[in-house]
Amino acid sequence: MRNRQATQLLSELSHGGRRAAVFPPSDVPEWPIEDLLPPEALSAAPPALPELAEPDVVRHFVNLSTLNMSVDTHFYPLGSCTMKYNPKRHERLSRLPGIVDVHPHQSAQNIQGLLELLYEMQEMLAEISGLPGVSLQPAAGAHGELTALYVAAAYFRAKGEHRTKVIFPASAHGTNPASAAMAGFECVELKETEDGFVDLEQLKLHVDDQTAVFMITNPNTLGLFERDIPEIARIVHAAGGLVYIDGANMNAIMGITRPGDFGGDMMHYNVHKTFTGPHGAGGPGSGPICVRDFLAEYLPGPVIRVRPGDDRRFELVTPTHSIGRVRSFFGNVGILVRGYCYLRTLGAAGVRAAAEHAILNANYLKELLSDVLPSAHGEHCLHEFVASAAGLAKERGINAMDIAKRLLDYGFHPPTVYFPLVVPHAMMFEPTETESKATLDAFSEAIHQIVQEETETLRSAPLTLSVSRPEEVNATRKPVLTWTACTKE
Ligand SMILES: Cc1ncc(COP(=O)(O)O)c(C=O)c1O
Repeated sequence: MRNRQATQLLSELSHGGRRAAVFPPSDVPEWPIEDLLPPEALSAAPPALPELAEPDVVRHFVNLSTLNMSVDTHFYPLGSCTMKYNPKRHERLSRLPGIVDVHPHQSAQNIQGLLELLYEMQEMLAEISGLPGVSLQPAAGAHGELTALYVAAAYFRAKGEHRTKVIFPASAHGTNPASAAMAGFECVELKETEDGFVDLEQLKLHVDDQTAVFMITNPNTLGLFERDIPEIARIVHAAGGLVYIDGANMNAIMGITRPGDFGGDMMHYNVHKTFTGPHGAGGPGSGPICVRDFLAEYLPGPVIRVRPGDDRRFELVTPTHSIGRVRSFFGNVGILVRGYCYLRTLGAAGVRAAAEHAILNANYLKELLSDVLPSAHGEHCLHEFVASAAGLAKERGINAMDIAKRLLDYGFHPPTVYFPLVVPHAMMFEPTETESKATLDAFSEAIHQIVQEETETLRSAPLTLSVSRPEEVNATRKPVLTWTACTKE
């Protein structure tokens, strides 16, 4: 049932004279307001504020908060986003006074505890990636990409090489070409093979002495591990270029294999995804980068290192040929601390187990859905898979968006739809390791029921929410912030 207290405005709930608290009469003499303020600062009448009792206000805001979906309330299999459960313990630990009460301008000497934590985080990220140089500064995955491309540009500049091209496969995340363009490179897109992998022949055609960086997400956006990655790296390196691994999908390989071992020279993590930080709607994030040792001198500063000759003290150092800062202070520390807690809690074996369970869950769900939403690529996937609603669209006129919207009525957050573009009517599912078999079964059951429903019902879904189908693009770019849309019956 729609909760009216959440969808009515406070001014609509208002009753003259209602108050949250009634104060006792003042026991000090009152001064006429006219004696205290100049006439131009005085209003003729009090402001028309809503008048409400405390429970009305609390219920309004608490109920309003329940109109949103989140990982704390719903299964959230949003492909390419790793919406795994964020343990509440991490929230408590990231709010410890030694972390939140630190002033950003405090000297390194009296924030040794925080520096030790961040240093250990650098070390763990280096170990998991197989790449020893780490900067914790970038504030999101996309920011990490941009920072690493600046590092690459500085490296080639120092070598006296003028390389102009950044190459990436067609299924690359949109942030890859955006970062390359922002860093001043020319973007070159590669067509993939039929089965969704980098086409080595295409790669050879495009890689040359102008190639600065080849960017690749591994596992790729179709949830497949690029088996030819050592050969890809060999081709790029032979031309003098660098290989960038977009680490947004590290959830599938952490503890199993490492970008540094399969040919990557640089990578970013999305700490908020892989190592649990509550995220969505653009933040908050943390996108540390890891690089090979010969690139470490170009990293943004400061980096944290053990003070020479004293392995219990930590200091801040700016690498010799640093590209400079890309973010204030040490990066998004709150998210880094949550990631640190995640890694410390799981330990090396647990990190690997998390990746294995993410893969198991994705393959289980892929199999459950295969009769209604088949996947075009690969018999098995890693942590996510891209199914296609093209068959349903052709036979029944139901499209991916209809299914996604109807899932909201069933109490599930929809998967990513219409991405990657290389799959028609794409629906990209990433269940993550934190979901139980029972949840995956219930989700599959919901999809099987949905695809049996009348096309008309699906076309008008969601039927139970206060907002139904906003215009996808303009709803975020030019939001119409009136209440009428939400109060319609
Ligand atoms: C493959 C890939 N690369 C890069 C990014 C960008 O990361 P962020 O959103 O942290 O900037 C994402 C985010 O969804 C992604 O999926």
